[in-house]
Amino acid sequence: MRRISVDKIKSGEKTAGEVYADGTTLLAGAGYKLSGKNLDRIDELGILWVYMDDPRTEGLEPTGTISDDVKRANKAKVQHAFEAIAAEYATDLPISAQQRLESIEEQKGISADIFNELESVAKSTLDNILLGSSRMFVPLPQEEREGYLAHHGLEVLAGCVMMARKLSLDSKEMAAIAIGGMLHNTGMLFLPDEIISGEGELSDDQIKYMQYHPVFGYEYLRKNPRVGILTAHMAYQHHENQDGSGYPRGLCGTNKIPRRKEPISTRPQVHRYAEICAIVDTFVALGSPRPYRQAMPTDRALDVIMRMAGSKLNLEMVKAFLSITPRYPVGSEVMIMNGEFSGYHAIVWEVSQQELNRPLIKILNDPDFSSVEESIFIDLSVQPFIQLQGLI
Ligand SMILES: [Fe+2]
Repeated sequence: MRRISVDKIKSGEKTAGEVYADGTTLLAGAGYKLSGKNLDRIDELGILWVYMDDPRTEGLEPTGTISDDVKRANKAKVQHAFEAIAAEYATDLPISAQQRLESIEEQKGISADIFNELESVAKSTLDNILLGSSRMFVPLPQEEREGYLAHHGLEVLAGCVMMARKLSLDSKEMAAIAIGGMLHNTGMLFLPDEIISGEGELSDDQIKYMQYHPVFGYEYLRKNPRVGILTAHMAYQHHENQDGSGYPRGLCGTNKIPRRKEPISTRPQVHRYAEICAIVDTFVALGSPRPYRQAMPTDRALDVIMRMAGSKLNLEMVKAFLSITPRYPVGSEVMIMNGEFSGYHAIVWEVSQQELNRPLIKILNDPDFSSVEESIFIDLSVQPFIQLQGLI
């Protein structure tokens, strides 16, 4: 089966997986022929992609680090919790960033009920990830236009957990980093609507307001003693840079992976959990469509991460991240850039941990977009000169 964006599906084509609205309401089962009316409805509901049947990809099962069913169910819960938080702090009148901060400081912070719910979501997502045998980080693309923050939080959780595993953090640390990854952007829930859902570029004043979100999140989370201090600090520090150019405090990093457990430094230094979160947050955000830009394919997003290493992102941690994140994940589509099949489109069939960036691919279309029915596989691990480019 292939993951196909809704605008590219033609009427009469068959689904290969179930299609849900809001993560819970079943719209169509697997093997269902979608009519034009169905497609209009799916688009209206804001669904961005569907698993479709394609005989050329029979047997292919693209999955993310979090399995589809757990992601769907947990995303609905996170979204529900986030909506409750936003509703609690909603105001009819415009409110300045300073006034917003004061209102968060005056109130009790995250309630026990909401935190318990979110903690159980983080735990079940973590369990799901640890049950999987893969050591790779593969985020699922955003499923629906709505619920961006819930999708983003869960995928950042997944990336943080895979990094924690790579860096051999223990189970207690892994649980802390999972919930911190999921809640790092909680402060975004306190921003005015026009800033989070604006279609154009933000004005200077809006950027200043937006840059309060780590402080909002930190103040909101730390008020509840059940929220670990490191979880709150992941919200506080995830936009700090190695060279001190980040916000809100301009902390610096060492560009190294700490060799031993350290308490929160008394020096003005970014904590390692926040450094992990910064890498994963940037990567997942680049791979998601936003109102003002398209999603980037994984290979280009990784190139951006590499360019940010050293100045913005912790260099040694970026190296660790690149060793767990394939440039061309299974199920993604690529263009062959040179050789006999230059200009052909292919789908990534298999990625091995040993040859993370040299996958096995299967050709789908020729350069004129005509379907190639013959089964042609190319193993890039033994074809070292063939170059690919990821497609969205
Ligand atoms: Fe953020």
